[in-house]
Amino acid sequence: MGRAYPITDHHFDCVVVGAGGSGLRAAVGMVEAGLEVACITKVYPTRSHTVAAQGGINAALGNMNEDDWRYHMYDTVKGSDWLGDQDAIEYMTKNAPAAVYELEHYGVPFSRTADGRIYQRAFGGQSVRYGKEQAYRTCAAADRTGHALLHTLYQQALKNKVRFFNEYFALDLLMDEDGSCAGVIAMRIEDGSIHRFAAHLTCLATGGYGRVYFSCTSAHICTGDGNAMVLRAGLPLQDMEFVQFHPTGIYGAGCLITEGARGEGGYLTNALGERFMERYAPTAKDLASRDVVARAMTIEINEGRGCGPNKDYIELHLEHLDPEIIKERLPGITETAKIFAGVDVTREPIPVVPTCHYNMGGIPTNWRAEVVCPKNGDPDAVVPGLLAVGEAACASVHGANRLGGNSLTDLVVFGRSAALRAAELVRPHSPPRPLPKNAGEAALDRLDRIRHANGGSSVGVIRTAMQRTMQRHAAVFREARSLEEGCRKLAEIAAGLDDLKVSDRSLVWNTDLIEALELHNLMLQAIATMHSAAFRTESRGAHAREDYPRRDDVNWLKHTLCWVDDRFRPRLDTRPVHLFTLSNEVEPIPPAARVY
Ligand code: FUM
Repeated sequence: MGRAYPITDHHFDCVVVGAGGSGLRAAVGMVEAGLEVACITKVYPTRSHTVAAQGGINAALGNMNEDDWRYHMYDTVKGSDWLGDQDAIEYMTKNAPAAVYELEHYGVPFSRTADGRIYQRAFGGQSVRYGKEQAYRTCAAADRTGHALLHTLYQQALKNKVRFFNEYFALDLLMDEDGSCAGVIAMRIEDGSIHRFAAHLTCLATGGYGRVYFSCTSAHICTGDGNAMVLRAGLPLQDMEFVQFHPTGIYGAGCLITEGARGEGGYLTNALGERFMERYAPTAKDLASRDVVARAMTIEINEGRGCGPNKDYIELHLEHLDPEIIKERLPGITETAKIFAGVDVTREPIPVVPTCHYNMGGIPTNWRAEVVCPKNGDPDAVVPGLLAVGEAACASVHGANRLGGNSLTDLVVFGRSAALRAAELVRPHSPPRPLPKNAGEAALDRLDRIRHANGGSSVGVIRTAMQRTMQRHAAVFREARSLEEGCRKLAEIAAGLDDLKVSDRSLVWNTDLIEALELHNLMLQAIATMHSAAFRTESRGAHAREDYPRRDDVNWLKHTLCWVDDRFRPRLDTRPVHLFTLSNEVEPIPPAARVY
């Protein structure tokens, strides 16, 4: 490689990319199995976006009322609008209690009941006895559960001697000619040096891509870098049209107000002071599934019953709650509401709007966290050497809509599953995996091109155009004409990357370059999302088509796959949903009407 980049080669049994909850849990488990593990992360581990998770982690512990993992499974399948793979959902819900007790033993400081058990709160879409009563299943550390979980897992990772490569930006997967993954190539942000990590297993734990939208609860780091690496490796992403809009993002700021606020008794009103959710979800009301609440709020606003001078938000009330409960259970959002909305939650409502929060779609995997891609007629063929976990992955346990509190469960259950699979597949301290000839050359060519981009448009200008297009054409409600216009606009905006200007040529702490790399990653995923949304001509979960308002199980009970090539051209296909279970402890749940 005739460039000025110093290159260092590393060899590990496994490399984990990303140090949020799923990456850390995977890395800890791999080390516990005797494997040598590198964890590379573009931010310091405790700044990963898991830190922002508020309300809690679902597991059928039954500490507050009766519960059973089968009820959790039923709620998750129904919440997914039957698009979730039931073998993976069974695995997650069955293993959730053990995963939470493991976190407790690792040291997560959960809130407690009066008799000392883990406190569990009500969250949306959750029931006991198959829809009969509200469940209390979300294990909480006040409203800072993700913070507690991430810091605890990081301490475990340090104790277990995971080798961290902090502030390294992963550029691309190193794929072998036989289609297997041999590792990853990354750039150290501090000095621009290039590092190739050869590994028997590479595990992507790179999080979601919320930053394709203009308004989101996701951190600026949520650019789906692993998803983009998968696309560049010629592999597809799955179910990218399914984007979750959280009902309660602070109006104007986008910051999350946890669903736990409604779980503790908060409720929503429109400009007429009506508790409108009673009309849309007579039983679950404000604790219906997120997609249902977000749509109801959007309809209220669109029909002129929004609050405020522009009638464009909804009010979330907590002022009727006991201030002591707010102090104990919701301290984080009390502070957030004060800072970002100027609201004292004990006296006045919080202005909120549905805000992009989570990507149900991502890298297709099976319940063992192995990446899959259809091959020779097998829709579930495994890509050797490659795992994916967390929000980057599509296992698919969330299907068309994720239940609140299931994301932290997903992180730790499938992080652990990845580690168990690694222990089966890799012998500790195996001879180094040889790298393919010219490994990483294409990634360095691309880096060079982007670094020397000298056109007329800044990263900020192109990124804002992309984000506004996504917000306008692929938000809570969608329809063909608007989606087609969105596809056209995104093609033009992506073509604008040929005119990109990266103003700093240096390699040392070049944040303009990092943002340019992230923008390329985001653009691939924006295109996958918009085209997948135009492709799916039905309404299911978070994908609400005004022109196809019904779920269509005859034609669309299947996953969408989307490939995007290096000229931003998409290709679409489908893959069957797993309507079967892993064991005979539970029967598959047949598709039914989804009513809350
Ligand atoms: O509302 C919340 O606390 C978010 C939780 C989640 O997305 O799981």
